[in-house]
Amino acid sequence: MSSAVTEETGRATSTDQEQLQKQQEPEQHQQVPEQRQRELSPAGEAESGGTTGAAGAPVNGLDAIVADHNVIRELFNRYDTAATAQAKVTAARNLVRHVSRHASAEERTLYPLLREKHPQANLAKMLYDRMINKEVLEFLESHVPAGDAEWVLYDATLAKFRMIEDEHMAKEEAEVIEPLRQVLDASAVAKLGRRWSAAFANAPTHPHPGGTSGAARARLVHPVVGLIDRMRDALAT
Ligand SMILES: [Fe+2]
Repeated sequence: MSSAVTEETGRATSTDQEQLQKQQEPEQHQQVPEQRQRELSPAGEAESGGTTGAAGAPVNGLDAIVADHNVIRELFNRYDTAATAQAKVTAARNLVRHVSRHASAEERTLYPLLREKHPQANLAKMLYDRMINKEVLEFLESHVPAGDAEWVLYDATLAKFRMIEDEHMAKEEAEVIEPLRQVLDASAVAKLGRRWSAAFANAPTHPHPGGTSGAARARLVHPVVGLIDRMRDALAT
């Protein structure tokens, strides 16, 4: 479970998307041209700080976020198919880490853009989901089941979280991503891609339920919290 270790330690320079691609198509991946790899790994741009493809093609921020949803879906699958308790704990940690980064990056890039372009959009349900999710993420991260009864509870919590997150991502794609596609030109989606990559790269790697989520304050606070999280990660390895 190489990408799991990668997420847990935070030491790798590539990302979940790249790791998943390698595991799903190991031989094909080695033969894929660099441009193709970058198109398939928008979150990977964030780790390296790069914001353009090999041929200088800008990253489409909306496509990058949808691709990252698919990474999250795959991380849920990994938990469901983990064969041992340790593998399940690792899969859960990786899921928590990735969703935490994803949510922070969206709070600072995607949602402010939606408010700007579609000020009438009703975000109450999606913001409520986020608040609940942070609480669940903290539970999943801080709790290691001690026996069969606790595993039943942990599995049920993760299954419930998956249900909420699946619905949330589908709603986000339909009610946030697609409306923005209708109004953003190529320059605007490329700008979003650069901002998304940078925000994902410096995002907190752990859930912070009590932390700020308003875009203006989040832009100031999240990179600092992300730095502290990474220091914690480094000390823990
Ligand atoms: Fe999302």
